[in-house]
Amino acid sequence: MQTSPTSSLGQTILDHAASLARFSDMEGGLTCAFLTPAHRAAAAELAQRMRDAGMQVRVDAIGNVIGRYAAAGDAPLDPKGQPRVLMTGSHFDTVRNGGRYDGRLGILLPIAVVAELNRAGVRLPYHLDVVAFAEEEGLRFKTSFLASSVLAGRFNPDLLARTDADGVTLAQALADAKLAGGGELAALQAAAVDPATLLGFVEVHIEQGPVLLHHELPLGIVTQIAGSSRFQVRVTGLASHAGTTPMTMRKDAAAAAAEMVLLVESRCGQAPTLVGTVGQFTVPDGSSNVIPAACHFSMDIRAGDDALREAAIADIVAGIEAIAQRRGVRAEVERVPPVNNAPCASWLRDQFAAVLTKRGLPAFELPSGAGHDAMMMHRITDVAMLFVRCGNGGISHNPLETITAEDAQLAAEVFVDFLRHFRPKQED
Ligand code: CO
Repeated sequence: MQTSPTSSLGQTILDHAASLARFSDMEGGLTCAFLTPAHRAAAAELAQRMRDAGMQVRVDAIGNVIGRYAAAGDAPLDPKGQPRVLMTGSHFDTVRNGGRYDGRLGILLPIAVVAELNRAGVRLPYHLDVVAFAEEEGLRFKTSFLASSVLAGRFNPDLLARTDADGVTLAQALADAKLAGGGELAALQAAAVDPATLLGFVEVHIEQGPVLLHHELPLGIVTQIAGSSRFQVRVTGLASHAGTTPMTMRKDAAAAAAEMVLLVESRCGQAPTLVGTVGQFTVPDGSSNVIPAACHFSMDIRAGDDALREAAIADIVAGIEAIAQRRGVRAEVERVPPVNNAPCASWLRDQFAAVLTKRGLPAFELPSGAGHDAMMMHRITDVAMLFVRCGNGGISHNPLETITAEDAQLAAEVFVDFLRHFRPKQED
């Protein structure tokens, strides 16, 4: 696990991503779900890379691998006599058959950068913690931001009883993985970081969209991370014979649901940053010769600001009710708690902008439509994100997801500059 010399940081990052992608739950593609054998192997490799880079490593109760690049001896101290902590990181779990850079770039790039600083004998005036978040995508337990919720002290205790597709509870999975605390709630709560120790959280991430590619720019500064609202909709109609029930006398739950899906599409097409998706659509116990009595579907609605999203939701919920009434079916809309927009802190954005400008690059800003660990960390500290251009038309959550070594190199150099010139927020 030797890193190559300084001139090819970008290639090193790509090589490390390729190496990490060896550990997969599937043949011929990359799936790394929370606490599977592949996931544990990936965690071990990340821990080793952190140690090789000169960091002290610990693993917390949810499986986060946290490497600390200790501050210089003369670093300023907080009231408790400790140097404060700048945190960076992202997730190493993946979606099913995903890409190798989503999340992982935000771990491997800081590790490569720390290795560089360490080789050059450079110490920073603060602790730099690189966090490899164990779970962000929600693949195994159908709940996302599990790992960052623990670090942010926002873990939902109800989740311990939640089961995966094989009926294994989260508590059992944590115990089986032999993590410290064995899946006990107290250990998960004790793993929360003290916000008073933090200077902020910065996350490097592949853009997962085509905006930077379109503007022919390698890097962008994120303005805010779009909030999302998710729903489960259950439509209940009346089962009856497919051959004998006249079209005018049907209470077809699936046909009603289909009309509701088209409503989501048309309403969310009315504003540029507004998006709505129905990714799950099922007819429970459906059969080809029976009019559907039930249809369940999911809705995911996001927008550049909370008010725009809430206005769209109000219209859609009212529209669903109207469709149900007209068709003589019943619709129940259950709302999963929304995640509000997370604005990135201007004082951190300004410091990234200064680094880009000094290099003659435009300080291009863009919002993030996807959720990120920074969104959860925003609950306890100021956050910022640096986006790296995504190749192949901006495709992500897909094996075709790619970045170039040149862009990774540039991102690493910008990140080094950011760290070396980092100034804590000036309190006024
Ligand atoms: Co991600």
